[in-house]
Amino acid sequence: MDGTHSQNDLSHVVEADKAHVWHHLVQHKAFESTDPRIIVEGKGMRVWDQNGKEFIDAVSGAVWTVNVGYGRKSIVDKMSEQLMKLNYFAGAAGSIPGALFAEKLIEKMPGMSRVYYTNSGSEANEKAFKMVRQIAHRKYGGKKHKILYRDRDYHGSSIGTMSAGGQDERNVQYGPFAPGFVRVPHCLEYRAHEQGWGELSGEEYGRRAADAIEEVILREGPETVGALCLEPVTAGGGVIVPPEGYWPRVQEICRKYDILLHIDEVVCGIGRTGTHWFGYQHYGIEPDFVTMAKGVASGYAAIACCVTNEKVFDFFKDDANDPLSYFRDISTFGGCTAGPAAALENMRIIEEEGLLANCAEMGTYMLGRLEALKDKHPVVGEARGKGLFLGLELVSDRDTKEPVPEAQVGAVVANCGALGVIIGATNRSVPGRNNVLCFAPPLIATKADIDAIVDAVDQSLAKVFG
Ligand SMILES: Cc1ncc(COP(=O)(O)O)c(C=O)c1O
Repeated sequence: MDGTHSQNDLSHVVEADKAHVWHHLVQHKAFESTDPRIIVEGKGMRVWDQNGKEFIDAVSGAVWTVNVGYGRKSIVDKMSEQLMKLNYFAGAAGSIPGALFAEKLIEKMPGMSRVYYTNSGSEANEKAFKMVRQIAHRKYGGKKHKILYRDRDYHGSSIGTMSAGGQDERNVQYGPFAPGFVRVPHCLEYRAHEQGWGELSGEEYGRRAADAIEEVILREGPETVGALCLEPVTAGGGVIVPPEGYWPRVQEICRKYDILLHIDEVVCGIGRTGTHWFGYQHYGIEPDFVTMAKGVASGYAAIACCVTNEKVFDFFKDDANDPLSYFRDISTFGGCTAGPAAALENMRIIEEEGLLANCAEMGTYMLGRLEALKDKHPVVGEARGKGLFLGLELVSDRDTKEPVPEAQVGAVVANCGALGVIIGATNRSVPGRNNVLCFAPPLIATKADIDAIVDAVDQSLAKVFG
């Protein structure tokens, strides 16, 4: 036990992991008889485990993060140069990569102007929530403090962000939560029949789902509502793309009641939805806050940002004589310089390699291939998504849309894994609705990669459902 091991024999690593690592999201009893998966290496779209088994990674590091793929030497080199020059200084001061990445990011976000650095998506969302609360205290006597969030959306793992969590099964054992967070209905048209709004579809449904937000605002009192926090495309809640008509109405409602619009781009940001840098940019909306994390540096370094417009920023500097007229907040690791150094190079790669266009093109191709699975597998209820961010909802009856049991969804994921393809699925999140397979390959995916992924899904559906 001297801490050394042979490069080829990872048995000691596996034993150390089993003895001491508490894995995220995993029930550990199984590890009494099996080994945890340890990912040892990655290159492009592929990763290898401790047994040398190769996998196509169809979920970019399992949670939609490694947008530019594994093994990018140029990112590592930029980080290395920066780390030797200066690894850290608290964010009360600036840094070279921090200033340069902020400038580059804001170029991609017309209407936005300020970047607050943090180190996780949860934390970036917490910053936005704190800013909303501070604005409420300073401008509205504390009254306009409520934050609306949507059913099935997710904003993070801290108690604050779970208070804005629209996935009850995730939240069930962690309350009580913070007060002042209020839920609005989801906008998943495929499940419109469960919402009691009659027979609506397309744009009409989209407008109705947004009207439901106004109903909540009127019930709570517009003078108490400070912000609305939404994912542009709901991720872990089932890959939900809001229908036509939704976003223009949401924007209109926010303006009407003076409600700040917070878009959580933790998953969608930096290219995931194709064509545009951000999910919200498909819809022409003008947010007040945009939070982002995962793809910002593709997982090469931990970096997250809470980006605001100048209107929000102004609230925090209006009275230099008031000792509390500033954002009294810090994120220790928001001062790490590796994050913005990696993020700058990540963005350069996306631009130079045309990955926003590739993401759109491959996303359309993959959606078409997933839709075609409907012809073969009655269990496929709906394929949906935007760019390389896709979901496949599985139902035991297409008429009633009864979700298949979660265990069968897990069996499809496991079978794909056995075939060498890592895919994802909604799990233990929305009660009775954990029936969506999730796909988010790196933005470098080729047609051949997509074919290999969809073929594995095809075979696995046949194996699990016959
Ligand atoms: C939409 C969304 N927001 C926020 C988060 C939280 O990010 P993090 O895990 O970096 O705290 C996630 C994580 O999956 C997410 O999907």
